Amino acid sequence: MANTFFYMPGRIVCGPDALSELSQAARLGTRPLLVTGTTFARRSGLLSKAQEVLTAAGTEPVIFDKVQRDPPLATAEAAAEHAQKHKCDFVVGLGGGSPMDVAKGVAVLLTNPPGLTRYLGSEKLEHPAAPVVCIPTTAGTGSEVTKYSVFVDPSTATKQTVAAESTIPHLAILDPGLTVSLPPSLTAETGMDAFSHALESYLAVAANPLSDAFNLQSLEMIVRALPAVLDEPDNLDLRRQMLLASALAGMALNSTGTILNHGMAYALTVGYSVGHGKANALLLPYTIAYLAADYPLKISRVCDILGCEDVEVGLLDLNRRVGIPTSLSEAGFTEDDLPVLAESCQLNCRRVMPRIKRKMSLQDYTKILRRAF
Ligand SMILES: [Fe+2]
Repeated sequence: MANTFFYMPGRIVCGPDALSELSQAARLGTRPLLVTGTTFARRSGLLSKAQEVLTAAGTEPVIFDKVQRDPPLATAEAAAEHAQKHKCDFVVGLGGGSPMDVAKGVAVLLTNPPGLTRYLGSEKLEHPAAPVVCIPTTAGTGSEVTKYSVFVDPSTATKQTVAAESTIPHLAILDPGLTVSLPPSLTAETGMDAFSHALESYLAVAANPLSDAFNLQSLEMIVRALPAVLDEPDNLDLRRQMLLASALAGMALNSTGTILNHGMAYALTVGYSVGHGKANALLLPYTIAYLAADYPLKISRVCDILGCEDVEVGLLDLNRRVGIPTSLSEAGFTEDDLPVLAESCQLNCRRVMPRIKRKMSLQDYTKILRRAF
């Protein structure tokens, strides 16, 4: 049995106007690279606000605002080059999972030899990464508290992960005001990503009483807060609960990783451009139902939280309540897609196989996809 462990070195600040706490980042260095997406942070005024706080705290922020959804390894490498050119000494990720992950990739490359590919996998860094600060604008990927950064590797058509404890952000700023303008579809999809993290982490072989406590709390909060926040998008308390639930699941993930669902969802994202959260939400009822017999006690606990008898029914019901398609066909897939998808699932799931209790064959993936179709 693996040793039980839990590691969380970061500081989390949460509350209305938490963004002003970005001034604390000044203790991490003098020249931050502020990494963000192409539009939202600039248009919403958030980027200039973050710049102002950093400047007022005595640092000289440098901007990299070219991160797109599901960034390839090359984006982090380009951002790192920009950071090196401007002699940046720490990194601030502002936005959804993509900018936060790119920020971590930059932090790796600021203190290690070039080429992010060589750091794919677990704890492959030669030197600890430069300090990272994360400010999520979705709730969420949990990236603001995790050791993971995920990138598309175009050479293998897979999503690949850098897992390194030194990339866990020193400071995570959870400001519910930053998530109020998220459109309903993104609120639902990113919220279900957090839900998938909590549920997959709860079932992973390395789950332990500490991660279980975080995950159960996260699941309960999301089941209550996610449908409610879709009815009341401006409710800051519900937005705060979603940010905290996402961070709770993220902290648990550091001990356990994700399992089958995330591996299979990567196939939908890489090959068919389905957004990360939507892909996870879409497959979750079917992957969890497929594995349920391996975890009778834990699944009955999940059913209690969902208020259902059958976990597949309960998860489909949750998807319906938050406006996520309940089948692959509803999401636009055709029957002809299934064989290619099954192979891609097998490829993308290789990494997570040690984290579940059974072996999976191509037929198993096909069975799950057929049921999800
Ligand atoms: Fe995720």
